[in-house]
Amino acid sequence: MATPITKAVIPVAGLGTRFLPATKAMPKEMLPVVDKPAIQYVVEEAVAAGLSDVLMITGRNKTALENHFDKVGELEQALLSKGDAEKLEKVKFSTDLADVHYVRQGDPMGLGHAVLRSKMHVGREPFAVLLGDDIIDERDVLLKRMLKVQQKRNTTVVALLEVDPSQTHLYGIATVEPTGDDDVVRVTGMVEKPAPGDAPSNLAVIGRYVLRPEIFEILESTPPGKGGEIQLTDALQALATGPEWAGGVHGVIFRGRRYDTGDRLDYLKAIVQLAVDRVDLGPEFRPWLVEFAAELDDRS
Ligand code: G1P
Repeated sequence: MATPITKAVIPVAGLGTRFLPATKAMPKEMLPVVDKPAIQYVVEEAVAAGLSDVLMITGRNKTALENHFDKVGELEQALLSKGDAEKLEKVKFSTDLADVHYVRQGDPMGLGHAVLRSKMHVGREPFAVLLGDDIIDERDVLLKRMLKVQQKRNTTVVALLEVDPSQTHLYGIATVEPTGDDDVVRVTGMVEKPAPGDAPSNLAVIGRYVLRPEIFEILESTPPGKGGEIQLTDALQALATGPEWAGGVHGVIFRGRRYDTGDRLDYLKAIVQLAVDRVDLGPEFRPWLVEFAAELDDRS
């Protein structure tokens, strides 16, 4: 029987330089997307998929992140004395959400290196990796489907999204062949951030992975690749073209809603997209937005 998956690893050691000065003293993962820090969406997604054992790979300046998932006694007390049950609930929610552990990355040497730091915690079980820049709409299923594919095929699973060819240089890109399942492909090759024009397809790897523990041994012998960093993509390429016992790599094609919070423009779009659908904000925000967009049209 397949080993059940219970652990999620979330690398959060990035410096967030694209958001300076906001990220000078605050982790980028704590930037609010509407009224929730970006990282909370990701932890909620892991928990919704049944993974409540969460390991964050952190670095300097990440204390706010740890505090967010910890109990803040004086705030709870203040809300309790005011009788503000609704806000108290919001404060407690992130504390009780998951069993969150932390390990420092030390010298950040790339995503592959960050994943390797989880070896002791993960042990010899398959596990999920979620990257904080990607938010997957909770109404669309991705991680649960990936876990199912991993369990059924005992393979390594990546999430693939069709992107515009002008965007392929920003992602790991996969070459694939079909399987019997409409949303599942076999990955035959992977390349990290190919130069424009060199991409073998427009299927981009987005920030969700379900890995088998063999990935650790592969990462240990993966030399620095693109940008001088140890790339997870290079280790996955070795698996995809490696011996049969390693189980190969499969991709789940995601056709749902994904929000990128990794750069400023995408971050702005993510906030607007999520806010218009909120029951508490959408009804007022949507007509305002339509009017504002019409005014913008008049301006041009
Ligand atoms: C990382 C990976 C890349 C992947 C991307 C998904 O890149 O290296 O293969 O496509 O995440 O968001 P980063 O965006 O951290 O530069």
